[in-house]
Amino acid sequence: MDVVRIRGGRRLAGTVEIGGAKNACLPIFSACLLTAEPVTIRNVPDLSDVRFMADILERLGATVERLDPHTWRITAAQVATRAPYDLVRKMRASVCLMGPMVARMKRAEVSLPGGCVIGPRPIDLHLKGLSKLNCGVEIEAGYVKLDGSRMRGGEVFLGGRHGSTVTGTANILMAAVLTPGRTRIDSAACEPEVVDLCRLLISMGAKIEGVGSHAIHIEGVEALHGADYSVLHDRIEAGTYLLAGAITHSDITVKGAQAEHMAAFLDKLSEAGLVFEIVDAATIRVRGDQSDLRPVDVITLPHPGFPTDLQAQTCALLALIPGLSIVTERVYPNRFMHVPELGRMGADISIEGPSAVIKGGRPLSGAPVMASDLRASAALILAGLAASGETWVQRIYHLDRGYEKFDEKLASLGADVARLSDTEMPKDLSVEA
Ligand code: EPU
Repeated sequence: MDVVRIRGGRRLAGTVEIGGAKNACLPIFSACLLTAEPVTIRNVPDLSDVRFMADILERLGATVERLDPHTWRITAAQVATRAPYDLVRKMRASVCLMGPMVARMKRAEVSLPGGCVIGPRPIDLHLKGLSKLNCGVEIEAGYVKLDGSRMRGGEVFLGGRHGSTVTGTANILMAAVLTPGRTRIDSAACEPEVVDLCRLLISMGAKIEGVGSHAIHIEGVEALHGADYSVLHDRIEAGTYLLAGAITHSDITVKGAQAEHMAAFLDKLSEAGLVFEIVDAATIRVRGDQSDLRPVDVITLPHPGFPTDLQAQTCALLALIPGLSIVTERVYPNRFMHVPELGRMGADISIEGPSAVIKGGRPLSGAPVMASDLRASAALILAGLAASGETWVQRIYHLDRGYEKFDEKLASLGADVARLSDTEMPKDLSVEA
């Protein structure tokens, strides 16, 4: 297994390029099941989650071609009706196969995905939404069994205790575009990734109004056609590099950072005293070298609020800023697995209910740490960039699910970051040994 070794304390410089958005790509790949014609998808990040999704589509009967590292063509002339547990358990996002499978095949059996380290992730809203489209929904032996033979448009409310649901909105959208009649989704998620999915569906011939709002109207059509589509940039990857600039007091330029998708995050960085310049619609230059940072309170919320997917990385930065910061997680109240690991590096953070209380300003020192999920891995690497000595991040397969070449991109900015085999790690540091 690979590990990442970071030797902290280096300033970064230069330009980094952001890839396509993972969380747009996964539902977009599953949307290819909605047509028998080829769909070409560009600006696809080279990530293990994308490769998982491609494997799943292939196992479901689609022809999947990788035309170059970032371009895929998917032709779903036939689609199986069962997505088994051995496929779905590898990646939660495969729940968004339900909508397209039942819309296209009129029946589907999709395994329930199981647990997740970031906390409970129910799919009750997905199932409620499908049943509002008159889809039969049963849970049996770990599978959701869907009967779409009598589906018709309906009114679906997707608000839950923690706001709307991103993949749930994607699922209902994908089901509704091929369902006869008019569907209205209220309290729809309005994340840029949902907007991107809508744009792809429209380019395939779907009729959708209210894109980007909480009220989406869909008029079902009989069939969709092929398309050629380029995925939007990843706002979470972009935000992570802006934080890398801030945490290392560096001047770096992030190309592919679209400020219009990052308003709450940028507003918070600005409140914290970070100097940055919006160079153009897709470029931000961060001037960590000119910034005098102060503590801030952060509350994660569904878009356009502060994204939960940047919470862990932001905690790493706040741990270094002298003073008290409180980070409250409203989307996944238990998503704090990075906190004990940051503590091992010297951060003073305690958890009080859904909040992390950060007494910032203590210097961090390198340590062997364990990645528990994708964003936690990124947070530990950011902390390692600012820590003295060596940080060894283990279980970095989590990182590869969502950051393309994170180690190489940081190294190209001048960071001392290397991906090594765990056999190269000092034995007394490894917990895998
Ligand atoms: N929820 C319910 N019932 C449901 C669905 C969701 O109660 O039926 C709750 C969840 O438990 C959570 C909240 O609603 O408390 C939001 O969950 P949502 O369904 O929006 O999350 P998701 O669609 O499963 C996507 C991203 C996550 C990201 C969240 C929130 C993808 C593939 N995943 O998950 O990304 O954190 O939205 O923005 O799009 C990541 O990239 O690291 C990641 C975890």
